[in-house]
Amino acid sequence: MTEAVFAGSAEGASPEEAGLRYEVDGEIATITLDRPDKRNAQTFATWSALARIGDSLPQQVRVVVIRGEGPSFSAGIDLRMFTPEGVPGQGSFASSATLGDSAFEQRIAQAQRGFLWLRRPDIVSIAAVQGHAIGAGFQLALACDLRVLADDAKLCMKEPALGLVPDLTGTKPLVDIVGLPRALEICLTARTVGAEEAARLGLAELVVAPDELAGAVRDLAAALLAVNRDAATATKRLLQGAAGRTLEEQTAAERHEQVARVKALFAGS
Ligand code: ACO
Repeated sequence: MTEAVFAGSAEGASPEEAGLRYEVDGEIATITLDRPDKRNAQTFATWSALARIGDSLPQQVRVVVIRGEGPSFSAGIDLRMFTPEGVPGQGSFASSATLGDSAFEQRIAQAQRGFLWLRRPDIVSIAAVQGHAIGAGFQLALACDLRVLADDAKLCMKEPALGLVPDLTGTKPLVDIVGLPRALEICLTARTVGAEEAARLGLAELVVAPDELAGAVRDLAAALLAVNRDAATATKRLLQGAAGRTLEEQTAAERHEQVARVKALFAGS
């Protein structure tokens, strides 16, 4: 199969065709994985549609919620990818294996684009996770800034058990949050992490009863929206850069951001 055929219809699919529901209500955008009968399994079309939503997010949006319809947040990549027939219009791992290395890496980069925008400083992304979040599902939750879990949530980095590596941007946040030894243990055993342990490890900001999940996310979004928008963006930028900077560099970054803030708030007063 050629790259063009592999890319296929995944590129142009609407959110609905890609199994997503997308709603914007004022400053909050909600993306719902909406294939509950298939436990919200994800395909290249899902990731393309996510990337396009990121590209065209209305300027007023400050909070992006990602949730899953039905009993599971997401059971990960569509298992048809492992079959010779693959996902109609999107190929299979067998067809991907016939691509040149750089064409295949480019294809993965396109998929990763669906996840990367969720870290943008001008938004805060929240994953609302109930039931299973497996493989690509766990990585989608990790791509978000914050995670609110129902107490029945089950997180699993299944990829190594299937002979793959996690490649949908999840390895860095996982290591950043839980540290290298725990990340290694979770990934290389492909075990399930329950909600209570997830909270202990910092993988969940909040754990609530399943019927309280939507309300807890709404309350969190409201609290995030209550602070000054530009201060929130600048603060997120500062915090995101902190791990990669020395104390001296970080304090310089704080000064730089604060000068801009104070001037925006008080210049001319
Ligand atoms: N891809 C495609 N279809 C799926 C997937 C998937 N990843 N997961 C579930 N489904 C489908 C099932 O085939 C079934 O379809 P059917 O009703 O047409 O037979 C339906 O969703 C319901 O699945 P059940 O297994 O019956 O649901 P249950 O609630 O008992 O179990 C669970 C849920 C645990 C998530 C189970 O479906 C499962 O283990 N799925 C596969 C998980 C997986 O290995 N994902 C790949 C991870 S690696 C990665 O993402 C890169």
